[in-house]
Formats: sequence, C-alpha cells, structure tokens
Amino acid sequence: MAYNLDMPLEQALRTQRALRRLKTDPVEEELLLHLLDLAIRAPSGSNAQGWEFVVVRERETMARLARLNRQAFSLFRLFKPLAKMTPTRQRMFESARWQADHFEEIPALIIPCLKQVIWPFPFLAATSAFGSIYPAVQNLLLGARAAGLGAALITIPLWNLGAVRRAVGLPWRVTPCCLIPLGWPLEEYTPNRRRPVREVVSFERYGRRL
Ligand SMILES: Cc1cc2nc3c(=O)[nH]c(=O)nc-3n(C[C@H](O)[C@H](O)[C@H](O)COP(=O)(O)O)c2cc1C
Repeated sequence: MAYNLDMPLEQALRTQRALRRLKTDPVEEELLLHLLDLAIRAPSGSNAQGWEFVVVRERETMARLARLNRQAFSLFRLFKPLAKMTPTRQRMFESARWQADHFEEIPALIIPCLKQVIWPFPFLAATSAFGSIYPAVQNLLLGARAAGLGAALITIPLWNLGAVRRAVGLPWRVTPCCLIPLGWPLEEYTPNRRRPVREVVSFERYGRRL
C-alpha cells in the first residue's frame, strides 16, 4: 500500500514533537514497515547498518515495559522538586505522566537496537555507536510526523537494560538504544519550540556569534 508522506520537509522538521497521548487504535503493520524502511535510509558509521528494530505490540510485553517505565518515572519524580519547573517543563512532565499511566495501551512500540556492545570508552567508539542509530531514529520520528502518527523518543525504561533485553529476547550483544511508542495522536502537532538559532551557533571559533 502507498502511504502519503508528502509533507514539506520544513513543515515536518518544525512540527515534529514528542506526542505521548495516543489513541488505542492499531497502527497497520505495513505502515510500520514503511516507516522503518524510511528510517534505514539513514547514514551509519562505515555504512555498517548494524541496526535491528524490534516492534512490540503484544500486551504482555507492553505490560513488562510499562512496569519498567513506571519504575523509572517514579525515580524521575523524586528529583522533580530539584528542577526549576517552567510551564514547558510542567507540560512535559504531565505528558510523561500520562504516558506512564497509559503505557500498556500503546498500539506499537519500536525499539531501535545496535548489534554490538557499546563501551563508554574510548569516546570515539561510543560516539560512533550512538551516532549510527540516532539518524535512523530521527528519520523514523520525521516519517511518523509526516504520516500523522504520534511518537516520542524515550529512554528511561533503559535504566534496567537487562529487564528490557529479557522482555523482548535480545541477546547480550544487541543493545537497545531507545524506545519509540507510536500511535494515532490524541493531540495536535504544534510547532516545536527551541532556543533561537543565533544563541547556539558560533562561527569559526566557539562563542563567536553572528
Ligand atoms: C536522548 C533522549 C532521551 C529522551 N528520553 C525521554 C524519556 O525517557 N521519557 C520521555 O517522556 N521523553 C524523553 N525524551 C523526549 C524529550 O523529553 C523531548 O524530545 C523534549 O522534551 C522536546 O520535546 P518536544 O519535541 O515536544 O518539544 C527524550 C529525548 C531524547 C532526545
């Protein structure tokens, strides 16, 4: 089946956001495969394409991941009083809480993995490893945006890497890098808000702003 993902790239980039409130309606397998086919158009170090994606839809597995997410979210909540709660942060927190409360109902969840053990040292190895999966993750998020699906990149369930591995049967050599819940959104995509570009760009030497 052909899917219409013809949204202008600039519009997709400016409105791709973490949408965590999702309907329970299923997402077609063919659409998931199509998005993953777009995801793997991404670059990877030496074009090794050492990625592997696990799509979770079974309720039992989702419940195990939901438990891990809730445990991590409870820890995260402990530190909430230490963070300066701006309205934006408060909104993000509420949306993450909604997701934690409804995790079992997520229609599909994708776990992008690398078929390697990722050592934190040397730095070059670690940066090449994660740099070889996140372009594909971003392709997936942009594809989901263009398809009108809600998606968010989450990592907190990975606080217990062993439990995530066991939940989906990953061998020890395969490392899950993040999780992406997907579903038809209960909310609208709105423009994402970021710091002004001139505040984060230096020319020639660090700190030399335009
Ligand atoms: C590396 C990384 C890890 C993240 N982990 C989580 C997470 O565990 N839980 C969550 O709800 N959101 C997570 N996010 C989503 C961010 O909170 C979100 O992208 C950010 O707040 C910007 O939101 P916006 O795109 O809606 O403006 C993560 C994002 C990144 C890039």
